[in-house]
Amino acid sequence: TGVVTYDPGFMNTAACRSEITYIDGDAGILRYRGYPIEQLAARSTYLEVSYLLAKGELPTPAQYEAFETRVLRHTHVHEGFRALIRAFPRTAHPMAIVSSAISALPGFYPEVFETSDDEAEELASILLLAKTPTIVAYVLNHVNGEEMLDAEPSHGFIEDFLRLALGQSREGEFGPEVVAAMDMLFVLHADHEQNCSTATVRAVGSADTNLFLSVAAGINALSGPKHGGANEAVLSMLEEIRDTHGDAGSFVTKVKDKASGARLMGFGHRVYKNYDPRAAIVKEATDSVLKALGARDELLDLAMGLEEIALSDEYFVQRKLYPNVDFYTGLIYRAMGFPTSMFTPLFAVGRTPGWIAQWREMMHDPATKIARPRQVYTGPDERDFVALSERR
Ligand code: CMC
Repeated sequence: TGVVTYDPGFMNTAACRSEITYIDGDAGILRYRGYPIEQLAARSTYLEVSYLLAKGELPTPAQYEAFETRVLRHTHVHEGFRALIRAFPRTAHPMAIVSSAISALPGFYPEVFETSDDEAEELASILLLAKTPTIVAYVLNHVNGEEMLDAEPSHGFIEDFLRLALGQSREGEFGPEVVAAMDMLFVLHADHEQNCSTATVRAVGSADTNLFLSVAAGINALSGPKHGGANEAVLSMLEEIRDTHGDAGSFVTKVKDKASGARLMGFGHRVYKNYDPRAAIVKEATDSVLKALGARDELLDLAMGLEEIALSDEYFVQRKLYPNVDFYTGLIYRAMGFPTSMFTPLFAVGRTPGWIAQWREMMHDPATKIARPRQVYTGPDERDFVALSERR
């Protein structure tokens, strides 16, 4: 009742209060629980950040050890997941398979919900965090026609994910630089306040939907090319420029012509009207990770050239369009050996701690109400029904 505000895309509507992530889009600042993203990227880890996001404080050494042990105990998945994944055509988009597998979690682990509410919440969080990387690795194995090996937590969380995902398709072990880079990329993706997928997780969870199914909805939102699908779209764009136009300048000209329908993928952000701090970190890391992998990539030079042209172009300057996190990540994933279609599933692994923390915060917030936006009706006024036989 009362006056309804029309606000497409919720540009100006805060749907919740949150203590998790702070963004100042004009200044290009991002902090998790007060800690600057630059410090977390350089000095923390994915598992530690997962703890921080959900619990609000960094763990003590004893708390960290207990948490890590508990997560590692659950990285294996029920045998049924192998069958579920294998049931898909190998050409299916990995995000469709990942989404289905995450939706299947409450079916395979119903006992999670048979404990007290607090324990159910904690256990569901641990299971989701632990099993998502294994599921994503198995999806890649399936796409590659490889065996789905058993998780071996003694390797370490990130190491075992890389081993499961890429161990059969590349020669040799990953060096510590590569493990650290994967860990850091996950840290950078861990949360980003009320983005499309997180807002979806909250909207679905506000109906008291369980954590697994709420996050599955977030994964579907993430798959869109304007959101998590952008990292895949950036690579396709760079390849298209290389293979067709040949030079970045003519692609930028095409993007500026709205009639072309093309966007410069990996550029622009609803909140950042400045350089995305995550993009700055990834850009700096790309060169060294590629060197550590002994990989040279002509697409990196192309991307840097494209960025330079865009940043000095009036169209992008006026609209405050800068590279976002997705602009450079794909180049690192590609150098590691991930196919382009796996980039968005990697984003999903990274974002899982944020979805969990946001869902939990919402569940404990007494102000939470079921998400139910209003609308401004613009359809016909009342009119009388005409029987089918009488319609012309
Ligand atoms: N290339 C060309 N023009 C753009 C771009 C772009 N990438 N992004 C925005 N614009 C233009 C847009 O056409 C509009 O121009 P005008 O004012 O003349 O109509 C203006 O800039 C504002 O754009 P908007 O679409 O109203 O902005 P938004 O806040 O609704 O959209 C966005 C944000 C991220 C969806 C958009 O910038 C975009 O589509 N970017 C490309 C996809 C991408 O990289 N997404 C990843 C986002 S970051 C990580 C993640 O969430 O996954």
